Amino acid sequence: MNPAISLLSSHRSIRKFTGRPVEEPIFQTIVRAGQCAATSNHVQAYTIIRVKDKNTRKELAELAGPQPWVEQAPVFLVFCADLTRLESACQMHCVTAETGWAEQFIVTTVDTALMAQNMMVAAESFGLGGVFIGGIRNDPDKVCGLLKIPDNAYPVFGMCIGYPDQVPDIKPRLPLNLVLREENYHGSCLKTKTAKSPDDYDKTMRDYYLTRDSNMKDMTWPPDGGLHGPEKPAPHEIFS
Ligand SMILES: Cc1cc2nc3c(=O)[nH]c(=O)nc-3n(C[C@H](O)[C@H](O)[C@H](O)COP(=O)(O)O)c2cc1C
Repeated sequence: MNPAISLLSSHRSIRKFTGRPVEEPIFQTIVRAGQCAATSNHVQAYTIIRVKDKNTRKELAELAGPQPWVEQAPVFLVFCADLTRLESACQMHCVTAETGWAEQFIVTTVDTALMAQNMMVAAESFGLGGVFIGGIRNDPDKVCGLLKIPDNAYPVFGMCIGYPDQVPDIKPRLPLNLVLREENYHGSCLKTKTAKSPDDYDKTMRDYYLTRDSNMKDMTWPPDGGLHGPEKPAPHEIFS
C-alpha cells in the first residue's frame, strides 16, 4: 500500500451530497489534474461543460433517467469528446483535417475518459466524491441542443461532484484471476492462493447487495442480466 493505491482502493460512487459548495480553487485544481492525463498524439480532444443553470440541470436530470443527483450535486459537468479545436488548428495551418474515422472517435472518447477519471481521483483526494453519468446519452440530440454542442463533438458522460453525504460500501470487483491472463487471450488465468470462479463472484455480489448499508436488493452479477444501452433508461436502483 501507498497513499495513491489506498485512495484508488477507496473509490465508491457518491450520489448524495452535503450543501457545501466546491471551492473554486479546488475545482480548478481538479480540472488541471484532469488535463495531466495522457492524451493520444497530445491532441487533448475534449471539452468540459460546467452546468450551473438550475433549469438546464433539471432537464438533464430528467433526460438522464431521471437521476435526481444530477440536479442536486454542487457541481455537474458534461464531458464532450471534441474534434472542433483540432479542425480549427488544421485550418490555421492550411491543412485539411481528416474526420469521420472510427479511429478518431476512439481517440477522442478515450482522451475524454482518461481526463475524467483523473478528475474523479483528484476530487477524491480532496475528500470530495462523485459519480459518472452515462445516462446523459439517453437522448444525445436533446443534450447537444441544450448545451449547444457542435457537430464535431459529442457528450460522452456527465459527472456529479460534491462533498459526500453518504459512505456507501465499496463494490467488490472481479477477482484478479478472472480479468488477467498470461501471454494471450486464451492463456492461463493468474494462479493465486485465492483464485476464484465466476460463481464465487456471483455470490460475493449477491452478499454485497443484500447486506450493504442502503438500497439493499437481491441481485447478482451482471446487474439486470448484462449491459443495458443508455437509450433504455433503467430504473434508479440499477445505477447503484
Ligand atoms: C461511463 C460510466 C457511466 C456511468 N453512468 C452512471 C449513471 O448514469 N448513473 C449512476 O448513478 N451511475 C453511473 N455510473 C457509475 C457506476 O454505476 C459505478 O461506477 C459502478 O456501479 C461501480 O460502483 P462504484 O463506482 O461505486 O465502485 C457510471 C459509471 C461509468 C464509468
